[in-house]
Amino acid sequence: MCEKLISIRNKFIKIIYKGICRPIFFRIDPEAIHDTMIKRGKFLGNYSLTKKITGFFFSYKNKKLQQTIAGVTFPNPIGLAAGFDKNAELTQILPHVCFGHVEVGSITGESCFGNPKPRLWRLPKSQSLIVYYGLKNKGAEIIAKELELLKQKEKRLVPLGISIAKTNCKETAETSAAIADYCKAYSLLEPLSDYITINISCPNAYGGQPFTNVHDLDKLLKEIAKIKTRNDMPTFLKLSPDLADEELDKIIEVSRKYKITGFICSNLTKSRDNQKIIEKNIQTAGGLSGKIVQDLADKQISYIYKKTGKEFVIIGCGGVFTAEDAYRKIKLGASLIHLITGMIYEGPQSISEINQGLVRLLEKDGLNNISEAIGKEISY
Ligand SMILES: Cc1cc2nc3c(=O)[nH]c(=O)nc-3n(C[C@H](O)[C@H](O)[C@H](O)COP(=O)(O)O)c2cc1C
Repeated sequence: MCEKLISIRNKFIKIIYKGICRPIFFRIDPEAIHDTMIKRGKFLGNYSLTKKITGFFFSYKNKKLQQTIAGVTFPNPIGLAAGFDKNAELTQILPHVCFGHVEVGSITGESCFGNPKPRLWRLPKSQSLIVYYGLKNKGAEIIAKELELLKQKEKRLVPLGISIAKTNCKETAETSAAIADYCKAYSLLEPLSDYITINISCPNAYGGQPFTNVHDLDKLLKEIAKIKTRNDMPTFLKLSPDLADEELDKIIEVSRKYKITGFICSNLTKSRDNQKIIEKNIQTAGGLSGKIVQDLADKQISYIYKKTGKEFVIIGCGGVFTAEDAYRKIKLGASLIHLITGMIYEGPQSISEINQGLVRLLEKDGLNNISEAIGKEISY
């Protein structure tokens, strides 16, 4: 399909999504609709015909968006952030929805029901979500078996990132138990992934975020280094947007020691002291996504890029709704982009729209490939 037709197709789907689908979805409990979408997506991913039809409605390809990072080739920079496909059930359909990579999880050492319901809320005025899932997932053993079967059955179309975290329970509150839990997930999932993310910033787990403390992080990364079977396995740390600069500096230092590939900036914010929160008296439990986290994530990307240049790969995440949002993060230093909330508010065609918009913005700046835009706005 030519550029013009793709943009007409995307506009048409956007009108249907925002005019009909979203008003219906937003009347239903957010977790129920999330579960329904997972079931539908899993079904669509099972058959080649349904995959082709999905591709017809959502695909977009352009060589200008392709880049190889840490030895992995990404057809475009837009990836699904961790937390949407918690149990890795959508890996066969998401490439047809135009994602250039998919991060599944976060997956924990043991299976976990997560926090008591309700645990997901919309903040439509702020274009955000409050997330209090608490790492609900089937656990590393079950998911690894399922991914292994899929790998044998079908060739992967885009890179697969696997996010790991520690099981949300009292038993992992003690540091050595938490490290053992991360290591269990790491060793089971490393052979199945193109990159691994160590999520040290879940705002909703028992015991808080102990591994933002560098002393504990050092211990964790030391144990993970021991069980790595591939020295060149790209490994990312997912950071909280609420970290102070001094905390970031220490995390960067320890990441150098263990040859961490890069950082995902960022996870959900816990702070309620944010000018972008429009709704009054929102509840205190849970992390905030979308537009509320956008500036915090942008600030973190530029801070790390200014300090470290091309030493680390940055994945920008938080409040990406449009091509302009993604391009801004790239120009601040991100090589890749993750999103969830933008897709929920704007519709599934937004991935194709963002990719097509990125090509337009590259051409406007006289650039030939997305890699040329990385950090363009930052001098270091
Ligand atoms: C429903 C939901 C569940 C999430 N669960 C996880 C998770 O399990 N692990 C993780 O690293 N981040 C998780 N996140 C955070 C996202 O990956 C992302 O960092 C954050 O939502 C900001 O991106 P966005 O504004 O595009 O949504 C979750 C976010 C949402 C909305």
